[in-house]
Amino acid sequence: MRSVLVLNGPNLNLLGTRQPEVYGSTTLNMVEDACVAHGATMGLDVVCFQSNHEGDLIDQIHKAKGTHLGIVLNAGAYTHTSIALHDAIASVELPVVEVHLSNIHAREDFRHRSYIAPVAIGQICGFGAKGYLLALDALNARLEEM
Ligand code: DQA
Repeated sequence: MRSVLVLNGPNLNLLGTRQPEVYGSTTLNMVEDACVAHGATMGLDVVCFQSNHEGDLIDQIHKAKGTHLGIVLNAGAYTHTSIALHDAIASVELPVVEVHLSNIHAREDFRHRSYIAPVAIGQICGFGAKGYLLALDALNARLEEM
């Protein structure tokens, strides 16, 4: 089966209890289960990984080349700071869909900048946990065009 990676960054392990008024009450396990189930309907094998550490995320992006066809990435706060993640994505040349539960553009100014966006095929934000499924749809559509 075609394999894709759903990669979550710092603090996303706390989904469900972390600021539910901003991020919703869905836990990361629920998000990941929904991604696996939704991927299966499109013939995608979805592998999920979360880390609070920038280097671990970079390692996963490097390992994705040759293993996965693309990545759905919520880099959490590293979105707004990490040139290293930007460079890792540029290096592997895999299609990456950037996702955020919240609408980062409607929040504090420091969240408006994304270092992921210039190397992603697109960005989905503001739709809560559903955004991951929309991101998988977008990634699958791109993969079918390739
Ligand atoms: C987030 C938005 C980021 O600004 C924040 O640091 C997160 C979560 C989101 O999914 O809405 O950790 O990526």
